[in-house]
Amino acid sequence: RGTMTVAETAKLLHKDASEVIKKLIMLGVMATINQELDLETIQLLAGDFGVEVEIKIPVEDDRFETLEETDEEADLKERPPVVTIMGHVDHGKTTLLDAIRSTNVTGGEAGGITQHIGAYQVEINNKKISFLDTPGHEAFTAMRARGAQVTDITIIVVAADDGVMPQTVEAVNHAKAANLPIIVAVNKIDKPGADPDRVKQELTEYGLVPEEWGGDTIFVNVSAKQRMGLEGLLEMILLVAEVNDYRANPDKRARGTVIEAELDKGRGPVARILVQHGTLKVGDAFVAGNCFGRVRAMVNDKGRRLKEAGPSTPVEITGLTEVPQAGDPFMVFEDERKARSIADKRSITQRESDMGANTRVTLDDLFKHI
Ligand code: GTP
Ligand code: MG
Repeated sequence: RGTMTVAETAKLLHKDASEVIKKLIMLGVMATINQELDLETIQLLAGDFGVEVEIKIPVEDDRFETLEETDEEADLKERPPVVTIMGHVDHGKTTLLDAIRSTNVTGGEAGGITQHIGAYQVEINNKKISFLDTPGHEAFTAMRARGAQVTDITIIVVAADDGVMPQTVEAVNHAKAANLPIIVAVNKIDKPGADPDRVKQELTEYGLVPEEWGGDTIFVNVSAKQRMGLEGLLEMILLVAEVNDYRANPDKRARGTVIEAELDKGRGPVARILVQHGTLKVGDAFVAGNCFGRVRAMVNDKGRRLKEAGPSTPVEITGLTEVPQAGDPFMVFEDERKARSIADKRSITQRESDMGANTRVTLDDLFKHI
């Protein structure tokens, strides 16, 4: 309820109610024993008595991050793998992504304008693969810290003329910590100083042993610039996907994760999200983080308007009331009222916990100066 009576507060602080009332008077609050005190006053009192109280905001029942998924085995359908590309600075992540994208746009889309939606999808052998635009390692860590699990497979790009560098090792550690399958793309093999075997040798020190040396890590030699080895890389991704058998139930309300979001001058808040379960439809009411919305328009990575988007599809949506944060969970609710009330509750909880944190800091500061 967010408040406590004077009597309850006194008990909490192991003081007599009369002492508490006295203190309150000194603070300028005329109180009776049954008076309700708000959190701020309670903390102020606690501070005056030299007691530190930690305010715990009760956990919301509606926290949908933790809701159990209950899908019948029979309802699960194959879905495209979601792939992230990581690696050291300048080793060719962006070039590789661009090369894959332009090599594999299907006939009708070739030459089309590709929108930046933080993610895109390619098709090879009638199978789709979703790529997340390589997030900086920090963004990746932040997302993981918030429990957002968006990637299925990590591609680690290593320049063959440069070898394993600090951020390569970081990428390997991230992927391992997240328990993701790793494919190593040894890039820039067109360069005169390229030494792919050295890369393999170096990575064995980090537990990535190539298959041909008796290990189980897939290495693919590529040149993003010369567009060499790309088909092979995509085939390997499909192979890993087949082995892992990624599935989701497309026949239910959508949920997923916000990849990035911003305020667009003309369109208002815009979010790029990855649908992970179910199917997202235009008109759906949803909650993203503390924000509420209703899908007004939905666009894919090729700038094409969609009416619906199934599992592993990255889309850009408008229709939010506010800008959510990267890594925020996204979920569709049965109706607008439910979505709105959950978003409201969540932002209140957020505000209260922010306030609680601030109050505590202030009290700590106060003690320091006494
Ligand atoms: P950051 O985003 O800064 O971390 O770099 P990145 O990993 O995205 O590298 P980027 O794709 O920007 O490539 C860096 C440089 O390497 C550019 O000048 C590319 O043209 C070059 N490059 C990328 N791939 C290849 C390749 O296969 N061969 C050669 N010769 N050059 C490449
Ligand atoms: Mg780049």
